[in-house]
Amino acid sequence: MAAKEPTWDRDPHTAAKHHVLRHYLQAWAPILLSRNDIVTYAEGFAGPGIYKGGEAGSPVIAHHILAGWLRQRPGKTVKMVLIEEDSRRVAELQRRLTHARDTSPGPQLTRLETLIAQGSCHPDLLHQLAQAGSLQHPMFVLLDGFGGPDVPFTLIQQIARHRSSEVMITFQPQFLIRFATKDDRHRAAGDAFFGNTDWQGVFSQPSHGKASYLRDQYRRTLKRAGFDHSLSFELIDEKGNLLYLIFGTRHEKGVEKMKDAMWKVDTATGVRYRDPKDPRQQVLDLTFAPDTGPLRRILLEYLKASPTGRLVEDLQRFTLLETVYKRGQVIDLLASMRRENQITTTPGRITRSTQITATHEDALF
Ligand SMILES: C[S@@+](CC[C@H](N)C(=O)[O-])C[C@H]1O[C@@H](n2cnc3c(N)ncnc32)[C@H](O)[C@@H]1O
Repeated sequence: MAAKEPTWDRDPHTAAKHHVLRHYLQAWAPILLSRNDIVTYAEGFAGPGIYKGGEAGSPVIAHHILAGWLRQRPGKTVKMVLIEEDSRRVAELQRRLTHARDTSPGPQLTRLETLIAQGSCHPDLLHQLAQAGSLQHPMFVLLDGFGGPDVPFTLIQQIARHRSSEVMITFQPQFLIRFATKDDRHRAAGDAFFGNTDWQGVFSQPSHGKASYLRDQYRRTLKRAGFDHSLSFELIDEKGNLLYLIFGTRHEKGVEKMKDAMWKVDTATGVRYRDPKDPRQQVLDLTFAPDTGPLRRILLEYLKASPTGRLVEDLQRFTLLETVYKRGQVIDLLASMRRENQITTTPGRITRSTQITATHEDALF
């Protein structure tokens, strides 16, 4: 939603995004601060730091979490680099972060260096990161515009240069799907966003597959930039528009922690997941007993590709890196697949070193 006023109402999908961010940063900060003296949290589309109803914006959420962890990590430094285009939002953000500092004072705040600049995400974010000396250290960069495409591939490549840096990007596929066929300018924006023209294959996709095609293309873009692993979330705004939140990292630990964050989100808040590997693209219910139907189908396909079978630890790693499910969901699922004769294993308890083979050629359901 492209708001005109300096602040706007926080909608449910934004609440979901904040939930994922909050949980992830709670895990990210202690891990990164235990291994590095300096880390950076950056945003290219920072917003005003507050919503109309008084809820905190993402920079304020991050500030709160990072200040908390710095208190427990003497000698470490966190830099916050925040870019926002709208001067009224910059002023509001400055007020919000000053308020955040005033309400949680402590010696650790001298090690939380905050830089807010009015400007355009590109190229200003990169300039400010370079000036702050952040590019040589790990960064978590949130690029949360109004859906874009507004983040060039070259920026993502620069962020990916440090092997511990990570990105999270919001991307609304509908804009390119609707407008880029006829308009050269929009097509060029798509090329800059994806870093090549492969995404234009979307024009020949069936309507129902266009958005997921662009999502998968963007995951390839992140991989080309250097982020070996990516995860995508579907956020649905109040008008039913689809927005992807896509996370890129080089680290399995990052994938694991991001999944923990995403599986904690309350689905009532406008977020939903589909597994990119699920041929049926079923929407998942993140209930207490999550629906593992898609994972069952995906694992059966994966098992069928290897007639001699696979070890459980292989299936767990595959699940972590290639699906939206968690490592910890695999063994219970395999036990139920064994009861239903979809797989064969050695008898007894299923452990990481158990060998699994698929039973039926046609066991896709
Ligand atoms: C979705 S909001 C950010 C919300 C914020 N991340 C949060 O969760 O609280 C997007 C912001 O990006 C700003 N913006 C739009 N285009 C921009 C650009 N090219 N460079 C920097 N900021 C931009 C808008 O003014 C708006 O405040």
